[in-house]
Amino acid sequence: MQRITVIGSVNRDHLYSVPHIVRPGETIASESYRTGWGGKGLNQAIALAKAGAQVSLAAKIGHEDYPSLSALCSAYSLDISQVHACALPTGHAIIQLDTAGQNCIIVHAGANGSFTEQDIQSFLAGCRAGDIFLLQNEINSSAQIISEIKKKGGRVALNPSPFTPDILRWPLECLDYLILNETEAASMTSADSSEKALDHLCSAYPALNVFLTLGSEGSCFACGNTRHFHPTHKVNAVDTTGAGDTYTGFLLAELARGSAVEDAMSIATEAACLCVTRPGAVDSIPSRAELPSLN
Ligand code: RIB
Repeated sequence: MQRITVIGSVNRDHLYSVPHIVRPGETIASESYRTGWGGKGLNQAIALAKAGAQVSLAAKIGHEDYPSLSALCSAYSLDISQVHACALPTGHAIIQLDTAGQNCIIVHAGANGSFTEQDIQSFLAGCRAGDIFLLQNEINSSAQIISEIKKKGGRVALNPSPFTPDILRWPLECLDYLILNETEAASMTSADSSEKALDHLCSAYPALNVFLTLGSEGSCFACGNTRHFHPTHKVNAVDTTGAGDTYTGFLLAELARGSAVEDAMSIATEAACLCVTRPGAVDSIPSRAELPSLN
C-alpha cells in the first residue's frame, strides 16, 4: 500500500471527567483525571497505521517528549524521522468529558505552532508525484504546505479541524480530499443544511472528494453529482474524543488500499463507532483486525 504522510499536530491530552461541561464563571471538580497522547495529527497518523497503512508523521514536539513518542510510534511502525524536537513545549489539550460522552477541548499549540521554512522544506524534500499527504488545522503554515505539495504533484487530504476562518483563504482548489463534520461544513459554506453545504463545495471544487461526517447519523460522500450516504451503528458512546480522527485515518487508509468509496466509508464508520465506546484519543483507536465485519 502507498505511504501516507501526515503533517500535523502532536499533543499531550489532559482529560477531565466532569458531571457537565463547565459554564462561564463556574468552578467544578473533576471526577477523574488522566493524560494521554493526542493531537489531530498524531491521532490520524495512528489511525492510518492501525488501519494497515504505511505512515510517516511530520511534526514538532518538545525535546523531553521525543523518547516517549518514539516508543509509542514504534509499536505501530509509524515513521517519525520527520518529527523535529525543539525547545518549545509539546502542544497540549485540556479536554472535559461529560457523563454523556460529549467533550469540550482547549488546545495550546506549543511546538505545533512553530513550523519554520526549514522544517517545511525538510518535510517535503522526499515528496514525489502521486504521494498522499494528510493535514488538519492545528499547525501553522498549512496554506503554504498545501501549495508546495501540489506544486510537487502530491495529493492532499484536509481535515479542516478545528475550523478557523483563515481556512477560507487557503488554496482549497489544491485539495483532492476534504473530510469534515457538519459544523465545519456550515462554517466553510454558510449553508443551512448538510445537503446545501455539499452542493456548494462540489460546485466550487468539481473534482474534490468530500466526506461529510454527520455524528451518530452516519456520513456522506460527494463529488461532482455523485452522492453516497452511509449510516452508523448504534453504540454506547463513552467518549467521542478522536472519533473524527479515527474515521479520517481509516477512510484514507482504505482509499489508499484501492477500496471503493462505499467500502472505505463502511470500514471508517465501524472504526469510529468502536472508538467512541472507549475513553481517550490515541488509546481509543481500534486496529483493523478488531473490526467486527473483518472477523
Ligand atoms: O480530535 C481530538 C484531538 O483534538 C485531541 O486528541 C486533542 O489533542 C485535540 O487536538
